[in-house]
Amino acid sequence: MTDSRAPIAGTPSTAEKVVRHAAVDRLFHWISAVCVLILLATAFLPILGLEFSWVGIHWVTGLVLIAVVLFHIVRSLAPRRFMAMWIGAADFRDAAAVVRATLRRDGSVEPKAGKYSVAQKLMHHAFALVVLTALATGGAMLARIDTPWWKRNPYLLGDSTWGIIYVLHGLAALSLITMIMLHVYFALRPEKWLFLRAMLRGWITRREFVEHHDPQRWQVDR
Ligand code: HEM
Ligand code: HEM
Repeated sequence: MTDSRAPIAGTPSTAEKVVRHAAVDRLFHWISAVCVLILLATAFLPILGLEFSWVGIHWVTGLVLIAVVLFHIVRSLAPRRFMAMWIGAADFRDAAAVVRATLRRDGSVEPKAGKYSVAQKLMHHAFALVVLTALATGGAMLARIDTPWWKRNPYLLGDSTWGIIYVLHGLAALSLITMIMLHVYFALRPEKWLFLRAMLRGWITRREFVEHHDPQRWQVDR
């Protein structure tokens, strides 16, 4: 009789997997991604001529995104998690080494990253800045619509302040379109599939870990 616990050929056994994203973090990524796509669709489709009552869907989705982002921020304050995304001196050395390896082509090897590469950290921080700007300005704009909790009050802030809030909200939304195109393009490139799998199923293989990561800089729990 065959042992049902025996590893299937080509599938790493549990001992060979390195957890990259816990289920709750993957859920956060996909919920926030769907929210951002709904927010962009409800914002821009009416401008492109597809008319529907978008305001309700837009602000309710915005509130869901605010809630999940707050959850994510609180969760990321644990010291080890926080430092995984921190850009420190080692990241500047990495960036310089990548430039050297690219320009010289003399066989200098690219350095192994911690949990996230400099590029991934920069992408995260750009998303964080832009999404937080959209959420803060959108949150303020809630004062201008009727909700179950309050009546609209367009005079809460002065005209020029509202002007700045609207410009920032629009700029954040436009930047997000470009950033998501870049982000999805890189996520779908074959050499980045390990990260796509990690965002879908949670893990990378131990071989991928050894090839791409420095165990001193990303200390995983066994
Ligand atoms: C001040 C705000 C933020 C802070 C301090 C923060 C912090 C962090 C940290 C420390 C990690 C690494 C967690 C780990 O791998 O153990 C992380 C990952 C991540 N962050 Fe943020 N973040 C912020 C805002 C955002 C925003 C606005 C988004 C949404 C678009 C976002 C999306 C993500 C995603 C998708 C990951 C990877 C999934 C994971 O947690 O493993 N972050 N963040
Ligand atoms: C819908 C298509 C999307 C795909 C296929 C996708 C895929 C991925 C993948 C593969 C990762 C890498 C995780 C890792 O480092 O292991 C990631 C991380 C991340 N995603 Fe997405 N994502 C999508 C949409 C979005 C959207 C709409 C946002 C926010 C507006 C977002 C924000 C982030 C952030 C902040 C990170 C962490 C930084 C990074 O690792 O690059 N993603 N995503």
